[in-house]
Order: sequence, then C-alpha cells, then structure tokens
Amino acid sequence: MYKIAVLPGDGIGPEVIREAVKIVRRVAEIFHLGFELKEAPVGGASIDQFGTPLTDEALKLARDSDCVLLGAVGGPKWEKVEYEKRPEQALLTLRRELGAFANLRPARVYPGLLEASPLKKEVAEGTDLVVVRELTGGIYFGKPKGIEREAGGEERAFNTEVYSTSEIKRIAVKAFDLARRRRRKVTSVDKANILESSILWRRVVSEVGKSYPDVKLEHLYVDNCAMQLVSNPRQFDVILTTNLFGDILSDEAAVVTGSIGMLPSASLGNHHAIYEPVHGSAPDIAGQNKANPLAAILSAAMMLESTFQLYDVAREVEKAVETVLGEGYRTADLHRPGTKLVGCLEMGSLVEGHIRK
Ligand code: IPM
Ligand code: MN
Repeated sequence: MYKIAVLPGDGIGPEVIREAVKIVRRVAEIFHLGFELKEAPVGGASIDQFGTPLTDEALKLARDSDCVLLGAVGGPKWEKVEYEKRPEQALLTLRRELGAFANLRPARVYPGLLEASPLKKEVAEGTDLVVVRELTGGIYFGKPKGIEREAGGEERAFNTEVYSTSEIKRIAVKAFDLARRRRRKVTSVDKANILESSILWRRVVSEVGKSYPDVKLEHLYVDNCAMQLVSNPRQFDVILTTNLFGDILSDEAAVVTGSIGMLPSASLGNHHAIYEPVHGSAPDIAGQNKANPLAAILSAAMMLESTFQLYDVAREVEKAVETVLGEGYRTADLHRPGTKLVGCLEMGSLVEGHIRK
C-alpha cells in the first residue's frame, strides 16, 4: 500500500490536485496498485479553519506518508496575516520537517508550446534543463535573523546565508547523479566573487565533481547565469544552486519555456518527498475551471517515478499528457488560435482517458 498525503492548499491548488488525484486513481485501477490517499488543509485553507497554516495533524499525516502531493498555498486574503502565520510558512515547515533538501525543477519546452515563450523561437527551442535547488538551508533558514530596534530608534533587519560542507555535498551528489541520467553537465551557480558561503560552495562542489569524471562541471556567478538563461538557455542541463538563487533562477527558467502551467517539481529528502506544481495558487483564476492541471499531473508522474519507482507507469502518464497536447487541447494559459480550449476538469479527463497499460 502506497501512502500519499494530499494537501490541496489554496487558490487553484484544489482544482489541479483533484485532476492529479483522478490520474493516480486511474493508474491504480489499470496497473492494479494500492494507493492510500489522505487529505488535509494547508496554507490559507488551514488558517481559515484552524488559525495556523500547518496543523500538527497535517504535519503528522505528511510524516506518516511515503510522500506529499501538494497544490499551492497563499493568496491576497492572507497577505495581512502576521509573518509567522502566513500560508508560505506551511511550505517552509514541511520542507524542513520532512528533510526535503533537494528541490528538482525541470524546465523544458514542450513540442507545440514554443509560441508561448516570451523569447525568440530560435533561442527557446530545445531548452531542457533541471534546476537542482538546495531547499532546507541557506538564507531561508540561517540564524541569526530578525528585525531589531536600535538605541537611536532606527530598525535593523538581518538574515544569514550559511552552508556547511555536508549540506553542500549531499545536494551536489543529487545533481551529479541526475546529470548522469541526462546530458552529463552540471552548472553550479554561486556568488563566489563576493560571498564566503559561495566560496565554500564552489570548493565542495568541485570536490564532489572529482568523483564524476564523466560529468562536465562548470561554475557560473548568479548574475551571469541569470543573463545566460535568457540568451542561451539550451547550454544548460543541470543547474545546481543554493536555496535563494534557486528560487529566483527556477522562476526565470520556467518562464523561458513558456509553459509555467506545465512544470512539475519534486522536493526529495532521505525518507520523504513533496511533489508540487511550480505555478503557485493563481488566485485570480481560482474556482473558475480555468487552471492548467498538467503541472500537477506531471508532479504526480514524478511521484510515481521517484518515490514509488514505477518508471513505466510514470512514462504512461507523461505520454498521455503529450498525446492530449498533440491533439491540440489547451487550457486558457496556453490557448492559441488553432488549438482547442478546454477547462481544468476536461483536461484532466482527457489525460485520464489516454492512460493505457
Ligand atoms: C517557491 C516559493 C516559496 C519559496 C515561497 C512561497 C516560500 O516561491 O516554492 O519557489 O520561496 O521557496
Ligand atoms: Mn519561488
């Protein structure tokens, strides 16, 4: 029995997760697999119900499951809530408590979706990369941090970017292992011309790289990488970077592909994992059956592959998605003249209908 904690969250989260769950149930039926799915509110939905973005029960459910399938959290409704109780805190707590230190964010241009990229076709075409973002360290969690009032009455705010050898090593190993299953190139991104934490980062990544002579290792400063991502994105295979830089670069990489509504992610730890679409809660279109469920469905495919090692089943789901796109069906985010506009629910059903044994 595979145990999945389903945390739909806010905005379009519940709609897209409903479609992903539909696919998981379909797969279970066709391939005779047993999934136990248990649901809990998280983020704003949890604040509304329980006054906290992540209850102990929801965290326990996540801990007791093999993995988490998450929608999205946040929205304007909770923007005024004090910082410690914001919906986003649920994500940070889940990541930390589940030890999900390796965030994999693939960004690839899907055939037929190239027109959606804001870049010239010649530049975006063929982009197929994965951002491997360190997720439980760096400035997101570093101490000391805080906002203090100084004697003169002025306020002073500070955060700490901190990385240890072992933290850098384990994420680097993930990136190199992944590169071996891809095009064998790792681009490590840092700010080693300025930051001590980056100097150590570069040193440890280089050291790990020595055990992977078959993988090409390159180092880029983050500002240069941001520029390269929009001028020549095809050069990248695996981008390995810190929590903060990875947050920024993964959004940039996503938009290059024009398919933000298509992009899944996996956050892997040693015993747990969180799978979620990259797109966020999109409150402006929530509840209107307009959202693109494909990122959530592809996140479920990543779950089938990484947590349950059901490689063929995962491939079947991905193939079904490609077939439906090939037939010209699009949700509003990717709809162009000549394609067929469908809603979130219909898109999920189309994919469901194409899953074969
Ligand atoms: C992401 C998000 C989160 C992050 C926020 C919502 C805490 O932007 O998953 O990229 O910064 O990690
Ligand atoms: Mn982000």
